[in-house]
Amino acid sequence: MAATDQTLPFAWYSDEEQLRRERARIFARSWQYVGRAEQVAAPGSFLTADVGGIPVLATRDTAGELHAFINVCRHRGAVLTEGCGTRTTIQCHYHAWTYDLDGSLRAAPRSEREDGFDPTDWSLLPASVGTWGPFLFVNPDPDAPSLEEHLGDLPAILARDIDLDAITFHSRVDFGSNANWKIVVENFLECYHCPTAHPGFSAEVDVHPDRYLLEAHPTFAAQFCSARQTGERGQFHLLYPNTGINVFPGPANLSIGPIAPNGSGRTDRYLDYFFAPDVDPAWRDEFFAFDDQVGREDRVLVESVHRGMASGVLDHGRLLVKAEPLLAAFQSWVTESIR
Ligand code: FES
Ligand SMILES: [Fe+2]
Repeated sequence: MAATDQTLPFAWYSDEEQLRRERARIFARSWQYVGRAEQVAAPGSFLTADVGGIPVLATRDTAGELHAFINVCRHRGAVLTEGCGTRTTIQCHYHAWTYDLDGSLRAAPRSEREDGFDPTDWSLLPASVGTWGPFLFVNPDPDAPSLEEHLGDLPAILARDIDLDAITFHSRVDFGSNANWKIVVENFLECYHCPTAHPGFSAEVDVHPDRYLLEAHPTFAAQFCSARQTGERGQFHLLYPNTGINVFPGPANLSIGPIAPNGSGRTDRYLDYFFAPDVDPAWRDEFFAFDDQVGREDRVLVESVHRGMASGVLDHGRLLVKAEPLLAAFQSWVTESIR
């Protein structure tokens, strides 16, 4: 059927105007992974993040309530604060407007000299915040459906192979590529390229299409695999729009992180890695080397796709709907979202 076997227009992968649409209609309205719940567990803690070009801030106020805000100063629009830590207030680095951890404007120097300045008009813009096990999510839309609703069946599916209470944070690995974020997502959503492009991965994991299973759900795309040698199971998920979650076959392991646009031709990523506390360090070193190898192979692929698409010589491509059903699902999800 033409509607699903045709890719999105290739122009959508390098066009700044398209990225602006995606920021307004996708990233401004979606649940996105921003870090670990423990980073905002203590009263007075805060954490900042960029979700697809939108600066956000999560805080735990002194009464213990969790909040999220748009991390942009109501005065003249500076990004209010960076990083994470513990504070009693959030003060803008530009003219020292100072906000309480619940977002209300506590002080604006010289504002008392102004006529009709009412600080209650200038609270931080609220966003939505939620936690799922050890994970912290923010949605810039204050009226978003709950995180739980967005997750749908994902927690139950993940629980078949991993217990989120039995893993602890190990480290964050930053990486990125010179490719549009949708190219990176789509590369993550199929293993059609695995036999050709990932010999190491394909030696470990059974990538035969009858045994590497793909399942599109309303809010996420799921992949299920098993190790050739041991039969141990793994799962890879994309929670729309851009949170990747990986559980490889083997000792308890999970990595999670965003696939975030930084301009139309650049994607920034990180993965937060979690393991069972008693995991063998030698196995873990090997695992990181393996994951890094696959990541380097993927980077070459997505950068090649970006150059090919951005050349403008082709309008669109042909999806193989049996081999790449999760791309069809993601592409129709994007199309619906930006409508
Ligand atoms: S922009 Fe923040 S205080 Fe002026
Ligand atoms: Fe890959």
